[in-house]
Amino acid sequence: MKPTVLELKGKKAARLVMLTAYDYPTAKIAADAGVDVLLVGDSLGMVVLGYDSTVPVTMEDMLHHTRAARRGAPGAFLVTDLPFLSFTSPEQAIANAGRLLKEAGADAVKLEGGTEVAPIVEAVVRAGIPVLGHVGLTPQTASSLGGFKLQGKDEETARRALEGAVAMEAAGCWGVVLELVPAPLAALITQRISIPTIGIGAGPDTDGQVLVFHDLVGLFAGYTPKFVKRYAEAGELIRRAVEAYAAEVRAGTYPTASHSFRMEPDVLKRITEG
Ligand code: KIV
Repeated sequence: MKPTVLELKGKKAARLVMLTAYDYPTAKIAADAGVDVLLVGDSLGMVVLGYDSTVPVTMEDMLHHTRAARRGAPGAFLVTDLPFLSFTSPEQAIANAGRLLKEAGADAVKLEGGTEVAPIVEAVVRAGIPVLGHVGLTPQTASSLGGFKLQGKDEETARRALEGAVAMEAAGCWGVVLELVPAPLAALITQRISIPTIGIGAGPDTDGQVLVFHDLVGLFAGYTPKFVKRYAEAGELIRRAVEAYAAEVRAGTYPTASHSFRMEPDVLKRITEG
């Protein structure tokens, strides 16, 4: 059964499992496999739409993919990312987050940023929309952070991540994603705040973990970060299947009679003879 936001908020040390799902089949597979929370992440811009960052992703993209994921997993708790520049003011954030819930079926939104986005998170939560925070590496603003790199190795960026997570709790988030931070910092943040932390590239001591579906199953041909464990090589499996299909079509061995439909010989005779 779908957890409530209050139940999720209470899941400290519960080893929550979150996974991205951007469409009908991946949402259905993840929900059937027992994933606790599905994330329609704006990483879809890179792994599904072929952009080299999440910056070009639009609200229309997120609405479209959320609707598809919702159809695949009607009973799942579904979080959708607010894309880059869709939450620059409280009014804009409430309007866009509201669309994701009302028009596409999301249960909550996620937005990236630390102390600087706290007033926006507060307004969205006050409007009745559950929010998941996201600190550490924030891919939408990766270029201002020096690229897709570990955050919190030095005192300044470690403090920024810690203060950001504390601010997200104070602003009313039900949980916070910690992306690409050293494991001891993630452990400290997890102890310091009372809402669940969900780590990606943040070590084992967070309250939950999240991965990108395409990374986990080996469907993304681009760069695979060190923290990713590929549990399957689905891309390779699919490529071999497509090669076999192409070879059989060219050899005339597919389709066979068993893949074809018959018709009554007298019907064929009548139409052949006009
Ligand atoms: O967009 C995404 O997939 C994310 C996860 C990496 C947490 O934000």
